[in-house]
Amino acid sequence: MQIREYQPSDLPVLKAITTEAFDGVSIDGGIEQLYGPIAGRDWRWRKARHLDEDAARDPRGIFVAEEGGQVIGYITTWQDQPAGIGHIPNIAIHRDYRGQGLGRLLIEYALDHFRKSGLSHAKIETLVQNEVGQHLYQSLGFREVARQIHFVAEL
Ligand SMILES: CC(C)(COP(=O)(O)OP(=O)(O)OC[C@H]1O[C@@H](n2cnc3c(N)ncnc32)[C@H](O)[C@@H]1OP(=O)(O)O)[C@@H](O)C(=O)NCCC(=O)NCCS
Repeated sequence: MQIREYQPSDLPVLKAITTEAFDGVSIDGGIEQLYGPIAGRDWRWRKARHLDEDAARDPRGIFVAEEGGQVIGYITTWQDQPAGIGHIPNIAIHRDYRGQGLGRLLIEYALDHFRKSGLSHAKIETLVQNEVGQHLYQSLGFREVARQIHFVAEL
């Protein structure tokens, strides 16, 4: 397994990994459970769009895990330099490769990237139902600072 910089041609496969991986652990999915598709779009369409946003914001902050020429996971990051905080908006590993330590390696890689950029803190979020995320992030030194409730209303 190697970790390399993102290239724009990776985007479709990163989106495919995302929409499979975030089934059951995304806010967009929760919205769909209550309201069904919105504006003719499902949660996968909305979630995949996050990758467009991450790539537009900081393409050099996206790192891709590759095995034998196949993309098997990724992590996206961006930096709030004035605040000294690095953000990790998205991380996902292909289902066949989960639970083998790759998520941990990608996060450590991102944290190293932040340190090299002179940042002092890192931020990541997860949902209460995401037990793997909660375990993994805390085991990497992240400490819980707040819980947030997302509300959606029909208009
Ligand atoms: C979250 C994710 C990126 C982690 O990547 P990964 O390669 O599977 O993670 P790792 O193998 O490095 O570590 C998983 C850890 O969770 C632990 N774990 C596995 N199942 C668990 C469970 N049900 N409850 C708590 N911990 C669990 C493992 O033991 C391991 O911890 P350890 O290293 O202390 O033993 C990956 O599982 C994924 O893509 N999930 C779906 C998308 C997602 O949830 N993304 C993050 C949104 S915040």
